[in-house]
Amino acid sequence: MDLTLGVYAFKGLALATELEVFTELAGGKGVTLDAFARRHGIHERPAELLLTALVSLDLLVLDDEGFYRNSAVSEEFLVKGKPRYFGGWVTLVDKHEYPAYIKMLDSLRGNHPTTWDVENQKSLFQPDDRVVKEHFWDAMHSLSAYTAGRLAESIDFSGIKRLLDVGGGGAAYDIELCRRHPHLKTTVFDLPFVCELTRPRVEAAGLADRIDFASGDFFEVGGVPGGYDAILLSNILHDWGIEDARKILRACAEALPSGGVLLVTESFVDDDKRGPAPAALMSLNMLVETWGRNYTAAEYGEWAAEFGLKPEGVVPFEGQGANGVWVARKP
Ligand SMILES: C[S@@+](CC[C@H](N)C(=O)[O-])C[C@H]1O[C@@H](n2cnc3c(N)ncnc32)[C@H](O)[C@@H]1O
Repeated sequence: MDLTLGVYAFKGLALATELEVFTELAGGKGVTLDAFARRHGIHERPAELLLTALVSLDLLVLDDEGFYRNSAVSEEFLVKGKPRYFGGWVTLVDKHEYPAYIKMLDSLRGNHPTTWDVENQKSLFQPDDRVVKEHFWDAMHSLSAYTAGRLAESIDFSGIKRLLDVGGGGAAYDIELCRRHPHLKTTVFDLPFVCELTRPRVEAAGLADRIDFASGDFFEVGGVPGGYDAILLSNILHDWGIEDARKILRACAEALPSGGVLLVTESFVDDDKRGPAPAALMSLNMLVETWGRNYTAAEYGEWAAEFGLKPEGVVPFEGQGANGVWVARKP
């Protein structure tokens, strides 16, 4: 029952995110049931059902005078414009993934994604897919902003002056790593239209002098640029089947100088494939999104060794978008 309630809980969160309930209540503001219903033009019955569910989930707090306010977790993660805003990810799951779950048996039986048109699109990452263009990179920023902070604390960045963020997307890692390590400069490497979508985010963060962009395609020969002390792959390899994931890993290995370091952040499935659940479920989610899956550190170790890298293992951390960083060095 807990697992099926998860669907109801998620939709409660998604509705509140779409109505911007937590943003309206930012900074300690309170609202009564009738004022909430009037503000959103809805009947009191559905308004009460939603607000009560949100209180039960500790996303809102109801005081004795009948005012609903944000809980601490909503104030930190669900108010638009805050650095750790998670609503972008909630919106992507709601608008892009949730409809695909209705057809998930097709994905299972046919071994293909269902969030996008596999007959007519080259990949999930297309500018002409309106929902993807509107929500995907906001969502990645949202998923990765907190996790990037955990990466910044997990390993020693003092020897890394220039980092290439391959498939850097919404630049969450670049922004968080540069904020925490003032000596660092990074480059977001991504498809041309993604670089253009993300540029204003970097400018708004006031980091345009330390984060630049290189647009390209990691599947093209020589596509991954050289000249960096470190390459980061965050939630990239799980987007692709084994053959493509190995191509990306090889391209990164070739682009690194001797002594260079490869960092892979992802939700790693345990080597014995018995868990952990967040990684196994993200892997299941790859069924509707891609032809990939969440791999194990042992798999990366095996492939990296073939491409001349020396695996150093996983440094675990607790993030939303990853459960650790797998490190390998080029001798
Ligand atoms: C799941 S997102 C990860 C974004 C970011 N690394 C993060 O963790 O927040 C995958 C990224 O890979 C990029 N990508 C997809 N195909 C690519 C290609 N052929 N060359 C370069 N980047 C690509 C996408 O545009 C997207 O930004």
